[in-house]
Amino acid sequence: MASTQTLSHIYPLGSRVNELGHLELGGCDAIELAERFGTPAYIVAEDDLRARARAFIAAFEAAGQADFEVVFASKAFPATAVMRLFAEEGLGCDVASAGELHLALRGGFSPRKLVLHGNARDDGEFQLALDAGVGLIAVDGFDDIDRLERLVAGRRERQAVLLRVTPGVRGETHEKISTGQADSKFGVSVAQAPAAIARLQSIDGLELRGLHMHIGSNLFSTEPFRVAIAAIAGLGDFPVYDIGGGLGVAYAAEQEPLAIEDFVAEVVGGVHELLGAGKRLMIEPGRALVAGGGVTLYRVISVKDNVSRWVAVDGGMSDNLRPMLYGARYEADVADRPGGSTRVQLAGKHCESGDVIIKDVLLDDPRVGDVVVVPVTGAYGHAMANNYNGVPRPPVIFAKDGEAHVVIRRETLDDLHARDV
Ligand SMILES: Cc1ncc(COP(=O)(O)O)c(C=O)c1O
Repeated sequence: MASTQTLSHIYPLGSRVNELGHLELGGCDAIELAERFGTPAYIVAEDDLRARARAFIAAFEAAGQADFEVVFASKAFPATAVMRLFAEEGLGCDVASAGELHLALRGGFSPRKLVLHGNARDDGEFQLALDAGVGLIAVDGFDDIDRLERLVAGRRERQAVLLRVTPGVRGETHEKISTGQADSKFGVSVAQAPAAIARLQSIDGLELRGLHMHIGSNLFSTEPFRVAIAAIAGLGDFPVYDIGGGLGVAYAAEQEPLAIEDFVAEVVGGVHELLGAGKRLMIEPGRALVAGGGVTLYRVISVKDNVSRWVAVDGGMSDNLRPMLYGARYEADVADRPGGSTRVQLAGKHCESGDVIIKDVLLDDPRVGDVVVVPVTGAYGHAMANNYNGVPRPPVIFAKDGEAHVVIRRETLDDLHARDV
């Protein structure tokens, strides 16, 4: 049986193996959580999320950046409870659709703390943002400019905007989450940016505050940020620069992403060097704020030996699409026997051979009825959950100091036809 010492850093802050030998998350025994709330379930260690938010803020202060805003990229975990938590911590919020905008307002964010993103927003989404009074709209191209020009005509207040520039930089990450390359669906190219800037500056109802970029997600180096900042530095002198999100996280114990403090210090250093120290600097972490605070609990439904040992659980690609989308790698433990050396294929319950949560994972001889814990599922898990095979989506449970409560209930079978007409 593993001891507290062997629990890897990929588990949420404060996790441990308790006296019973069970994994404990947010002070709550994982076996008890599974019994009380059912499986699959997303468990979120509230203190972990708060600690990461505070680490970002402290890192900017330590780096000598007086004027900054940490903006939670809500696409990573669009739940009102998560938004409320980050609003309480003083963060801003990146929303990329009318739906995320609606959730962020419901989650308690002041509209002024919102940044509206997206590469294909229709009139309705822009109108909603304008009516709500969002702080910033990131303009993604010339069609956005046409649309906004029309929508802001005659309004009394000018709408503050940023121009999203694709800096022509490819970070080292999966191609499906790389966004800063020259041939990207996001933003305008560095070559076209001067024309977009001139047009934005000519529209009375808009106030161009600065530039935005987002290179990609799950990055382990600040080098592409430096190159990208250098690429946009020649486009003018603006009061605001938003450098997007993208800080990577460890999904496996041997991975070592940059610590939040180091990442922020290096980026701020680059910004001071290339743009000067007096700018308002915005950053939009999603994954780095929420991935590590969340785990998913599953129950083992079947174990069979077909060449490999196939351990099938009661969830899969409906609650975590990342293995299917990006070949994303996870680790796992049996909740009451962490560690182990039985090599298994941890499979989901869905009717696709590709629905394998983890290939070749070492577990302690999993058996039917065991609870399996998969850490680092806080980002883009709930966010991309779906009803494939008519599987209801799992609940989100917040855990803190030994207390747990539901913040999003489990979907019911009736929810599956609630929209039928
Ligand atoms: C504009 C923008 N900002 C921030 C993020 C968050 O990225 P991450 O979760 O990697 O921090 C994304 C992710 O797609 C994005 O598109």
